[in-house]
Amino acid sequence: MKIAPSILAADFTKLGEEIKEVEAAGADLIHIDVMDGHFVPNITMGPAVVEAIRSITELPLDVHLMIENPDQYIEAFAKAGADYMTVHVEASPHLHRTLDEIKKQGIKSGVVLNPATPAESIKYVLDNIDMVLLMTVNPGFGGQSFIHSVLPKITEVRNMGLKHGVQFDIEVDGGINPETAKLCKEAGATVLVAGSSIFQQKDRKKALLEIRKEIV
Ligand code: DX5
Ligand code: ZN
Repeated sequence: MKIAPSILAADFTKLGEEIKEVEAAGADLIHIDVMDGHFVPNITMGPAVVEAIRSITELPLDVHLMIENPDQYIEAFAKAGADYMTVHVEASPHLHRTLDEIKKQGIKSGVVLNPATPAESIKYVLDNIDMVLLMTVNPGFGGQSFIHSVLPKITEVRNMGLKHGVQFDIEVDGGINPETAKLCKEAGATVLVAGSSIFQQKDRKKALLEIRKEIV
């Protein structure tokens, strides 16, 4: 299983050091939350920040687009150095085409489902994805509580992949800590996003290892 610290909870005055610290602690991916103030009620960062992060780490960059009209920004984020790009099904009326556009950039594509969005919404794009990201909070802010009712959806999505004979990562995002990490692993998740439970802790290495301990 992989752990993807979300820099949303990091100290932005020393973002480079923060990323180096989680890299040394054994992070597998760096999760970057892009919010536009329209799809979600918060504004964060754009391609320039992704580009800056690209220059200081070898870790794959997992760019979570919480924006309206994602098609307009795919190229910019790909050029900035994204390795994974995930788009919300709720913000992508032409989801199949959007995923194709991401693949055309030579990077990994993923679909994100809000807590209330059913698993069936990915049924017709199963051949076009490398990752499914299941939100375990409503997107927009870090530090929220894990929504337990999403757990059966993790298993449902895993079973859809098995039935269809395709492989993709199942990532969970929101309220992940050692306790909820374990529940997500049992349900079938393969990638854990963790913001506050890593960056809001004094000892990031210890925090990451505490999550790791629950998922080995
Ligand atoms: C929320 C973001 C998350 C957020 C998670 O909209 O997508 O990635 O950073 O933060 P925590 O781990 O604090 O819930
Ligand atoms: Zn996220």
